[in-house]
Amino acid sequence: MRTLIINGTVVTAEGSARADVLVEGETIALVGPDLPGSGVSAEATIDAAGRWVVPGGIDVHTHMELPLGGTVASDTFETGTRAAAFGGTTTIIDFAAQQRGGSLRAGLEASLAQAEGRAVVDYGLHVMVADVNDAALAEMDALVAEGVPSFKLFTAYPATVMSDDGAIYRAMRRTAANGGLILMHAENGPAIDAVVAENIALGRTDPVWHGRSRLAIFEGEATNRVVRLAEAAGVPVYIVHLSSRDALDEVRAARRRGTPVWAETCPQYLFLSLDDLDRPEFEGAKFVCSPPLRPRDHQADLWAGLAAGDLQLVATDHCPFDFRGQKELGRGDFRRIPNGLPGVEDRVDLVHFGGVVGGRFGPERWVDLVATTPAKLFGLYPRKGTIAPGSDADLLVFDPARRRTISAASHHMNVDYSCYEGLEIQGTADIVMSRGTVLVRDGTWVGPAGHGRFLRRAPATYARGDRS
Ligand code: URP
Ligand code: ZN
Ligand code: ZN
Repeated sequence: MRTLIINGTVVTAEGSARADVLVEGETIALVGPDLPGSGVSAEATIDAAGRWVVPGGIDVHTHMELPLGGTVASDTFETGTRAAAFGGTTTIIDFAAQQRGGSLRAGLEASLAQAEGRAVVDYGLHVMVADVNDAALAEMDALVAEGVPSFKLFTAYPATVMSDDGAIYRAMRRTAANGGLILMHAENGPAIDAVVAENIALGRTDPVWHGRSRLAIFEGEATNRVVRLAEAAGVPVYIVHLSSRDALDEVRAARRRGTPVWAETCPQYLFLSLDDLDRPEFEGAKFVCSPPLRPRDHQADLWAGLAAGDLQLVATDHCPFDFRGQKELGRGDFRRIPNGLPGVEDRVDLVHFGGVVGGRFGPERWVDLVATTPAKLFGLYPRKGTIAPGSDADLLVFDPARRRTISAASHHMNVDYSCYEGLEIQGTADIVMSRGTVLVRDGTWVGPAGHGRFLRRAPATYARGDRS
């Protein structure tokens, strides 16, 4: 099957140009001006006049069906990847979880079994490491070789998954030899728990106290600490869900002294704030995630960080829980509210709206943040994240002028609220194609079930500075 996409403006991280795209089977065969005029024909034609043709989005941080806080994230690999596709994301990287006392491989097998035959977009997996021991370190070597080269460790959650500094250093040293990449959830968990205890003792149980307990200074401290550990270990490090100016300052300082530190932020930290956590009638519970939403004045710093390159990409940390029955578990005690927000469907459009429409950066930087750098850092480039002959035909026909209003009534995520309810945005994808198959056309699902494939990813050479 050959499909020609004509009359559009092809936007990649490198530049924009009027060009046509020929898709042959699952991959891009040709990119160039006036392909029909050069005699190129196809069985199907998509007229992208007045619109942009961009690489499909890559969200490197999602949690489908994650068990957390006595409940389970409400999107399955099926519903969550379908919602991702509606929002222009054609690849996700989710997290398999090692149980304490269990193996990394057991966690990986469990996630693979959940996703296989259900996911509708391509997916990779990181592994969350809860227990850094000799066996787990040896397993990391094997997993890197098998296409799972990234491992998330935590300086938070002492009761469940936190690693101490020695364990983090050991895991980092291991990646120096095996080519993997350590991802860090950087908040000072023990200090946070001390502040939580102070606030609970004072009867401060509303959702906003979740945010007021998890101080930005604790994120800054933990970010500096893990960066310093990575410097000592001689490896790059990747900071997940960076939320605050305090953490950004540490990343910027480290990059200026030449440390290969990489960081993502998420739409919730760019668009939402501590004020949302303080909404009355327990509505603030909808906004409980960790790190928490910050005072509004952090947002401008994060946007500036994205524009300047101090932050390299935007992921979602999609981890949805219904307000009814799930977030409600924490009525009267914010500690029992499951941590996490829905967002996989809105990321591509929100970053376009806030970044490009908002005048903070151009369309090429937007593509870089939502698709190209994610592909490069996580071993998928140039198969994903660009528009070039030989790359997978993961493509969006994106209308930069079309307006839509975000609402739980119309979204496709399996969750009963939207964090952005009523927000009118500009710019959205009309057509979403994954490996040459159209999944979404004008807001209607037209793709096959179970289309997604597991992605074996390359080791983290880009994070180490290899640009070849
Ligand atoms: O609140 C969050 N972020 N939930 C998901 C788990 C994590 O730490 O990323
Ligand atoms: Zn985390
Ligand atoms: Zn997460």
